Amino acid sequence: MTARQMKLGAFLWATGHHIAAWRHRQAHATAGVDIDHYIRLARTAEAAKFDMLFCEDAAGVREANVNIASQTSRSIGFEPISLLAALAVQTSHIGLVSTASTSYNEPYGLARTFLSLDHLSGGRAGWNLVTSASHIEAANFGSTGLRPHADRYERAREFAAVVAGLWRGAETSGFNHEGRSFSVRDPLDLPRSPQGAPVMVQAGASDEGRDLAARTADVVFTAAQTFEEAKAFYDDLKGRLAAYGREPDDIKIMPGVAPVVAETEAEAQEKYEELQELIPDDVGVALLSSYLSISDLWRYPIDGPLPELPPSEGMQSRQALVIEQSRRDNLSIRQLARHFAGARGHWRVVGTPAQIADELEARFEGGAADGFNVMPSYFPGELDAFAALVVPELQRRGLFRKDYEGTTLRDHLGLKRPI
Ligand SMILES: Cc1cc2nc3c(=O)[nH]c(=O)nc-3n(C[C@H](O)[C@H](O)[C@H](O)COP(=O)(O)O)c2cc1C
Repeated sequence: MTARQMKLGAFLWATGHHIAAWRHRQAHATAGVDIDHYIRLARTAEAAKFDMLFCEDAAGVREANVNIASQTSRSIGFEPISLLAALAVQTSHIGLVSTASTSYNEPYGLARTFLSLDHLSGGRAGWNLVTSASHIEAANFGSTGLRPHADRYERAREFAAVVAGLWRGAETSGFNHEGRSFSVRDPLDLPRSPQGAPVMVQAGASDEGRDLAARTADVVFTAAQTFEEAKAFYDDLKGRLAAYGREPDDIKIMPGVAPVVAETEAEAQEKYEELQELIPDDVGVALLSSYLSISDLWRYPIDGPLPELPPSEGMQSRQALVIEQSRRDNLSIRQLARHFAGARGHWRVVGTPAQIADELEARFEGGAADGFNVMPSYFPGELDAFAALVVPELQRRGLFRKDYEGTTLRDHLGLKRPI
């Protein structure tokens, strides 16, 4: 049996994950709607044997201030499931995972769309379940506002159960779900998935989010700055599985990592500084405000500390992460904004291929991750660099595959086929 190897996602995002990627000299303004750009990224990731492509989503203009949103790297972009359907026919092995919200969809429609993507791609689809945490999206779906956190998760639990049932029950004669939020009569008009069912990913790290993951997810996407945070999350989530009759290995935990890599440490640092210098303060503060779920952070002195904050109805896990970091490192609003804006709250590693491989290996072997969702700072340059420099180093260490052994996303991730 081969030794346990890490899983890698290539998280796609228009011009790149760094908040100022759109200002980088490699960026082009229409990257978000340029299919050739995405085909190139998908082929690079597949040639490097990544497990999956990963797309986030928000059905709206996410930053509260539209002027600020237009200054970030994702002011325009394809609807991600449509994008992945196009990439399905341009690739042959790599998994195709898209985010979709349980708050602004219905389970029948979403189950059908993902199962179609799964058939289109020969069993490579995955759904990243989110409940969505922004008021902006709520305003686009006839809602009077963001539903409370607990209500969103209650709806998500029923939603996930209906989708899983539809995927399992494809080809059966009746379905008949009558629940609190949804009623569904028919089975899907599609055969059973080539991989048993599309892969279920979950992102949301509050207590309710973790519980939902333990109940339903195959993969968890999460954000953790330090080894200790990552390890605590990993142990907590794996510890919740037994209550649902599941084994620790039934879930793969893949935190985000935002690498900046170059042949020498000095070059990597220079690349990173170049990006950090491009962050406008108002953009950094607006993004920090959205993580903290407050709208008037700009009123406070930018070189002073964070004010006391009310508990979040939005993304509780991200708010806690920011507050924790501000206390730990005694950072001002400007410093925090730059720190979080750069990697959008995720773990940043800057260095040589060996240094980055060391960092990934430490979290993987230390029991803090089963793999990583790689968030290149700018495209295509940083994905190219990771594929050309870091992947071979991981392969040399026996930590990552040299070739695909199966054809479906479940094969790559080493997941059981659902019965
Ligand atoms: C790592 C991570 C990635 C997320 N990605 C998205 C996303 O792409 N779109 C979205 O609407 N919400 C996203 N969310 C937030 C989810 O909507 C989540 O269900 C909601 O914020 C509640 O999160 P909580 O359980 O951490 O409080 C993400 C959350 C995390 C932790």
